[in-house]
Amino acid sequence: MEPSSHSLSPADRARIEGVGARLSAVVPAVEWAVHTPYLQAIERLKIERNAVILAHNYQTPEIFHGVADYRGDSLGLAYAGAATEADVIVLCGVHFMAETAKILSPEKTVLIPDPEAGCSLASSITAADVRRLRARHPGVPVVSYVNTAAAVKAESDVCCTSANAVEVVESLGVERVIFVPDEFLGRYVAARTDVDVILWNGHCEVHERFRPAEIRDYRRMHPGLDVVAHPECPPEVLAEADFVGSTTGMIDHVRSRRPARVLLVTECSMSDNVSVEFPEVEFIRPCNLCPHMKRITLAKIQRALERLEHPVVVEPAVAQRARAAVERMLEVGRRN
Ligand code: 13P
Ligand code: SF4
Repeated sequence: MEPSSHSLSPADRARIEGVGARLSAVVPAVEWAVHTPYLQAIERLKIERNAVILAHNYQTPEIFHGVADYRGDSLGLAYAGAATEADVIVLCGVHFMAETAKILSPEKTVLIPDPEAGCSLASSITAADVRRLRARHPGVPVVSYVNTAAAVKAESDVCCTSANAVEVVESLGVERVIFVPDEFLGRYVAARTDVDVILWNGHCEVHERFRPAEIRDYRRMHPGLDVVAHPECPPEVLAEADFVGSTTGMIDHVRSRRPARVLLVTECSMSDNVSVEFPEVEFIRPCNLCPHMKRITLAKIQRALERLEHPVVVEPAVAQRARAAVERMLEVGRRN
């Protein structure tokens, strides 16, 4: 389907013309000329399609600062996807995030610029695995991390993200839960509640690579360092951190603490994106890259909007059950 060719208002034209300026403090000047034509084409297509771009905190700076209308962690993207009045959502992140947006907004067109953008956690578990866990532990509720396929969410009682996992588990008021698929996030939750947590052995291929010795080395090399880690890291790494939180939790921590030096123990693009807002903070940048997040590029975003590709499809019966689990999670946040 062709984008509508309605004439642009002077304000729309000014918006399109001005987008290149968003990169001035973000990427080196030599890159502006490369990115600006994409930024302008994407801005025009967003107007023509009545589209909105949601970008995860791990997207590259030219996407994060250049074209995103909403930026955030998995939880923030889920709320934003549910609230938007746009006709088209382009999810710049990985497939499970786009699926979550589609589950919450079935009437909207939800596009993922590269359908191969997966996740090692999501691919570590299937719906049949969850059914087997339920059979082994009858009556024990299943909490699934949002980093799962819709079919796994459909087999779950409630979803959670790294921002609300402890809150969600405690909201159930039970003695035991099955927590899938992130073993390390599950251990993190178990250490902070009296709930007995039955674990699955899924891991994030980015965060599992961090080691406590490297954190101690960074501390030695950079005195006064504030170490901020994502709960998908192994427990021994989290034990070295001053603060543990979701990607947006990390940003909020830097915003409120304004440390002189900070180490974000997470994916590479986080420091690149966040440091723009805090020029006075020195970011020490370890770099473990998520190859799935990095499949999304400006060229693919432009093509997605031009051709309305790749639309996310979730089978209605699966979507309905998955939606109940995601909505239950969102309700926990609205109550607190
Ligand atoms: P959050 O942004 O929800 O903390 O998740 C991190 C992550 O790895 C998403 O893929
Ligand atoms: Fe999945 Fe880890 Fe990549 Fe997030 S960073 S999408 S959890 S592999």
